Amino acid sequence: MKVTKQKLHKLISTKLTRAGLTTSHADVVADVLVHADVRGVHSHGAMRVEYYAERIEKGGTNVNPNFTYEQTGPCSAVLDGDNGAGHVAAKQAMEHAVNIAKENGIAIVGVRRIGHSGALSYYVQQAAREGLIGLSICQSDPMVVPFGGAEPYYGTNPIAFAAPGEGSSLITFDMATTVQAWGKILHARSKHEAIPDTWAVDKNGANTSDPFQVHALLPIAGPKGYGLMMMVDILSGILLGLPFGSRVSSMYNDLTEGRNLGQLHIVIDPSFFTDLETFRRNITQTMRDLNNIKPAPGFDQVLYPGQNYDIIEQENEANGIEIVDEVYDYLVSDVIHHNKYNHKDPFAT
Ligand code: NAI
Repeated sequence: MKVTKQKLHKLISTKLTRAGLTTSHADVVADVLVHADVRGVHSHGAMRVEYYAERIEKGGTNVNPNFTYEQTGPCSAVLDGDNGAGHVAAKQAMEHAVNIAKENGIAIVGVRRIGHSGALSYYVQQAAREGLIGLSICQSDPMVVPFGGAEPYYGTNPIAFAAPGEGSSLITFDMATTVQAWGKILHARSKHEAIPDTWAVDKNGANTSDPFQVHALLPIAGPKGYGLMMMVDILSGILLGLPFGSRVSSMYNDLTEGRNLGQLHIVIDPSFFTDLETFRRNITQTMRDLNNIKPAPGFDQVLYPGQNYDIIEQENEANGIEIVDEVYDYLVSDVIHHNKYNHKDPFAT
């Protein structure tokens, strides 16, 4: 089913409002999800609404949160999100970080006690559209083995970065620190297809190509991805006084309780370090340079990081977004689930 951005936004916002979210918060969540879908990052788009709606309905997302800011220094602040929708707190915290960075050159803003906040590219692009560099990281459910381990400890702890080029162009890089997202394993299960044995491990910690035997995901590049996950968990969890490692709440454990997750935004104003116009020109130049690198066998062109999704975004802006029928059918229905996700074991077959 192909839908326009506007229609998808309306469907998501209506469903979340029906579940109990205020219209203003539902609109922000819809913005972030549509941003993901329009870029082709469907794992963090409308398909999440079913779960979000159940959590809202069960009280695990505070629909009337009291956001409080603590300005802890000239360049640092912490927003307590009171376990409201993570998207709303993360967006507001980035607006705050942008203001601090414009004043002081750099901002580090922690977001404490929030729910899932979706695709982090949304927040770093807020900064880049203001002519600033944005970096954002966050905690997520423990489902990844540490290098050499057989039990999950860290989450898929993503890292996102965006910087402004000339005009309205941006470079956006946004990745989970796991080889593949959990959604890709579910997809392989639904099709009864084998997965590459570099994605995940079974209950003994051995690499597996059977999606039904998956017990935990693997970090990117072995010990290096493992180290990145550790950095993300320290900076967006321990630094903010939050539960860390395997103590981080799991997405489905108890939908009646807030998740207490952490996120950290870092924003840099390039004009405090170099000439802004030269910076922006050189960002555009680096994008061009990368596109002009001789492609390897099997590749038509080298894309700059994130360009694959920039291309999809342009196509979807023009032609509409392809949403899988099940997701569309759910959005247009009156259904809010009461017990589909609560206490669900993400690894259960
Ligand atoms: P991915 O593996 O699809 O892409 C990772 C990065 O590589 C992207 O920036 C992408 O544009 C770039 N890329 C991929 N192919 C490329 C190519 N051929 N040329 C140039 N660049 C290329 O993304 P992943 O790791 O599956 O993450 C998806 C989303 O999940 C992200 O938005 C992330 O923020 C989100 N996420 C959110 C979490 C949360 O708890 N809020 C947890 C984990 C992930």
